[in-house]
Amino acid sequence: MLPASYTLPTGAGALAEYVRVPARYCVPKPPHVSFSDLAGVGIATLTAHDMIRSTTLNPGDRVVVNAASGGIGTMVVQMAREAVGKEGFVVGVCSGKNAATVRDIGADEVVDYTQHPDVGAHLAASYAPFNAAFDTLGHQRLYRSSPTWLVPGADYVSVGIKPPTFYVPDFLRAVFQMKLNEWWPTSPWLGGVGRRWVAVAMMNPTLADREAAVYALAAGDIRVVRDSVWPFDKADEAYRHLGGLHARGKVLVKVDAAYKDDE
Ligand SMILES: NC(=O)c1ccc[n+]([C@@H]2O[C@H](COP(=O)([O-])OP(=O)(O)OC[C@H]3O[C@@H](n4cnc5c(N)ncnc54)[C@H](OP(=O)(O)O)[C@@H]3O)[C@@H](O)[C@H]2O)c1
Repeated sequence: MLPASYTLPTGAGALAEYVRVPARYCVPKPPHVSFSDLAGVGIATLTAHDMIRSTTLNPGDRVVVNAASGGIGTMVVQMAREAVGKEGFVVGVCSGKNAATVRDIGADEVVDYTQHPDVGAHLAASYAPFNAAFDTLGHQRLYRSSPTWLVPGADYVSVGIKPPTFYVPDFLRAVFQMKLNEWWPTSPWLGGVGRRWVAVAMMNPTLADREAAVYALAAGDIRVVRDSVWPFDKADEAYRHLGGLHARGKVLVKVDAAYKDDE
């Protein structure tokens, strides 16, 4: 039996005090890392890890992270910073209220999308060129603008495409567009956008992926930014908050309020 926060891939949900989980999913808990922080390195961190290794980053590279303040974004910013080093350049895109957080975790500059509705044009005018883009929300418009700020041959790595609603037609249109992005030639002469679109799908993380996330946390290479911690009887509100897509870092649910972070 393990604390529920360890146990995403059981198919039985994780919001319970204890759940049973196959041993092949388990990574030993580092003694100095709290259960609460470990609860925050589930799918979001594994997705971030997958995004970073889906392309090649070199020291000195310039990268853009869209939705840099979210659960995935806060991890991508930290991992990108680590990969490009001090001589690299990391720009995070988020709203102004989260700018300080995004700088604090490693971004050199922040683009406030509420002040610059055409983010692509602003990136092109103020910060280009970039060697890689990580879109942790999935903005097709930003992808379409990428040839104006992303060097030829660079990758646009995305979590997918954010549909305007989750009604079936919008969802299917987004899936169709994802496939077009993937399959259509990148050459603008052939109607493509001009930059390779790389989608990640964190459906089946391996034990090695989980170990990488936990060890990075244990080593202090990444930290969990906590948006909020909700009591168990407010779990539905926590999900609603998360569904609003304006979390700053991770939204956590504490199953038993009597326990401290590492009990
Ligand atoms: N492909 C995969 O394997 C995979 C895995 C997990 C999740 N996902 C998807 O990835 C997306 C992000 O997940 P998450 O957990 O990181 O979400 P999250 O924690 O809710 O973060 C969303 C972030 O998006 C920012 N944002 C909202 N509107 C924006 C805009 N117009 N421009 C730039 N940033 C904007 C918000 O910042 P502000 O508050 O500052 O606006 C917020 O910090 C979700 O759609 C989720 O379904 C995909």
